[in-house]
Amino acid sequence: MGNRGRFGKYGDIKRIGRLRRAKKDIAIGKEFVRRGDDGSRPGDGAAFPKMALRLQMAKGSHWDFIIDLSGRVFHEYGPYDKIIQEWLASGMAFTILSVHGRRPVGFAMINLLPKEYGPQDETELLAIAVEPGMQRSGVGQRLIKVVEKKAKALDIKRMALHTGEGNFVARRFFEKAGFTELRTERNFYPKGQNALVMIKDICASIPSPSGSGSDV
Ligand SMILES: CC(C)(COP(=O)(O)OP(=O)(O)OC[C@H]1O[C@@H](n2cnc3c(N)ncnc32)[C@H](O)[C@@H]1OP(=O)(O)O)[C@@H](O)C(=O)NCCC(=O)NCCS
Repeated sequence: MGNRGRFGKYGDIKRIGRLRRAKKDIAIGKEFVRRGDDGSRPGDGAAFPKMALRLQMAKGSHWDFIIDLSGRVFHEYGPYDKIIQEWLASGMAFTILSVHGRRPVGFAMINLLPKEYGPQDETELLAIAVEPGMQRSGVGQRLIKVVEKKAKALDIKRMALHTGEGNFVARRFFEKAGFTELRTERNFYPKGQNALVMIKDICASIPSPSGSGSDV
């Protein structure tokens, strides 16, 4: 995940007030979100046999879940419940939620700039998280696919991200999703850990895992 006050190379948290005022300009398209798909797991088609896994845009009523999950899974890096709350409130974050049955189970968040900034070539995957009990079931892979598709539809060329240098599960996950390591940023996180910057060219076609349907 990213760090407080950083939105990729574009700015810092001080801009939030201005961005809030420009919130209405942010292009968030419901058309990119498919609802009610069959919930099959990429690759094996059998992880969610009873309840559908849906992907939808996060609304205000989902903030509590997103903040709570972030506080739990990112706590070793810093106060990410508060940091994520600031990103949500900034109006610069586009967030996709994954829902299993009626229960939210994960989210992915990227930054999208207001139109006044001009064309956006790069976005940052600010955070992605899946409920611990639902991990390793293909939820994360589907979330990332949908945010990539959203970014691609906005002519964004690259997606970058920060992840903990010691977060080997996340590193493996992002590698499998097509990200490559770019550099290390020392003491990036509020609690002092180094971050690895990873990047993906999203102009290249997004491979569809065999056996999975399209998410959007
Ligand atoms: C990283 C995270 C989002 C992955 O989500 P997920 O739904 O569990 O991942 P998926 O089931 O889609 O896994 C996709 C691939 O990632 C890799 N992967 C995921 N979890 C893994 C694990 N525990 N060990 C090894 N590889 C793993 C595998 O290659 C997997 O494919 P496979 O199951 O076919 O082998 C999830 O582990 C998480 O929420 N972690 C805590 C928060 C975090 O660290 N976020 C990333 C930094 S922002």
